[in-house]
Amino acid sequence: MLRFILLTTALLAVFSYTKADPKVVCYYNSRASLRDGQGKFDLQFIEPALQFCTHLIYKSARINADTFKLVAQDEKFDITQDNYRKVTDLKRRYPGLRVLLSVGNNDDDPEQKEKYLTLLESVDNRLAFVNSAHMIVKSYGFDGLDLGWEFPTTKPKKIRGAFGSFFHSIKKKIVGDSKKDEKEEEHKEQFTALTREIKNAFRHDGLLVTLTVLPNVNSTVYYDTRNLIQHLDLVNLLAFDFYNPTRNPKEADYPAPLYHLYDRKIDENGDYQVRHWIDTGAPANKIILGLPSYGRAWKMTEDSAISGVPPFTVDGAADEGPYTKVAGLLSYPEVCAKLANPNNLQGAGTHLRKVGDPTKRYDWKVNDVDKRFGTYAFRLPDENEEGGIWVGYEDPDTAGNKAAYARAKGLGGIAVYDITLDDFRGLCSGDKYPVLRAAKFRL
Ligand SMILES: *[C@@H]1O[C@H](CO)[C@@H](O)[C@H](O)[C@H]1NC(C)=O
Repeated sequence: MLRFILLTTALLAVFSYTKADPKVVCYYNSRASLRDGQGKFDLQFIEPALQFCTHLIYKSARINADTFKLVAQDEKFDITQDNYRKVTDLKRRYPGLRVLLSVGNNDDDPEQKEKYLTLLESVDNRLAFVNSAHMIVKSYGFDGLDLGWEFPTTKPKKIRGAFGSFFHSIKKKIVGDSKKDEKEEEHKEQFTALTREIKNAFRHDGLLVTLTVLPNVNSTVYYDTRNLIQHLDLVNLLAFDFYNPTRNPKEADYPAPLYHLYDRKIDENGDYQVRHWIDTGAPANKIILGLPSYGRAWKMTEDSAISGVPPFTVDGAADEGPYTKVAGLLSYPEVCAKLANPNNLQGAGTHLRKVGDPTKRYDWKVNDVDKRFGTYAFRLPDENEEGGIWVGYEDPDTAGNKAAYARAKGLGGIAVYDITLDDFRGLCSGDKYPVLRAAKFRL
């Protein structure tokens, strides 16, 4: 009997050594406490999420454009009101949780994006960044730094069509193509150098360094996987917002497909992003597949496809949601409030029709992959051309499906971007954090 117990214990030990627990990376946007009404996210709401998260990435740092030092996103909120400390204090109740501070993430000043490139270009600037980041991470008790580096993004797809291409050719003659980074190669090398310098400074203290690949940053252009990956503990691929109303105001499409769709750019889907990193030398267990807890919404017009099947012509971003107040963005609870359901009778007649993802495809590694593209919901415009809306979003089904994909491919895990846009109050079905929860349980 004793031998049997010893043997099983040994086997279990081997098993848990070879198969690390999958990671659930939860992004947390500090500014969610400024939202209104039911969207206002105070720190107390985070607790039900933390039973699911292995890593909490606190999105609340930026770069000072003059000194190139890492600074708090909001000095008053994070330092004076002590939110850095409150966030890392969560580890007392959740001892396994790793809490990282993240810089960038498109939360920095949009007028100052250049500094993410100029910082890289000088050894002194990089040193100022590394030292300040190390100091802040260490003194507030973070477990590491996440680099949500704001590299330039790819150009959106051109829209074909007689008028469109005619207009485009005139515009091209007048203004030329949008600005291109002339020093891509240097920036790629310098980013590897920066990451190495951070890891070297952090190693002593056992601090983590992770990368967040922001939507529409071309990994081929900016990340030298083979030389970079050894300095990174995790790479979070934000594989969504391939389509959104800012990039694509005239055409709606699936914002976060898992697989390639016919007649779309080959690299604008999650599977491509994952394969790119693995094919260029990243171990699968460092790759985290990121999914959004929000939808992207456009205004449908009389020219839009009445079937609701994308892509089709639209008229810019849909109106802002009541809590998030960003045109073209709806949090998961804002989407579900617009859908027809028994708890939402006051919306009857004006609700959106949900179209679940019916696709199925056989993949030899993942077995049956259904839900390849995503869920959407829509309402056609009325006779006065009012009220038309199309929203593509992640729901518990598609989030769970992406987690199953991550598991089947042996990835490190999944990331939810971000938990403050999930249904943290349980307004949709009574369950708190339905998107995060569904992803966690199929991982
Ligand atoms: C990314 O960069 C590669 C290499 O320059 C290029 O072939 C590819 O088309 C780019 N992807 C996008 C989406 O622009």
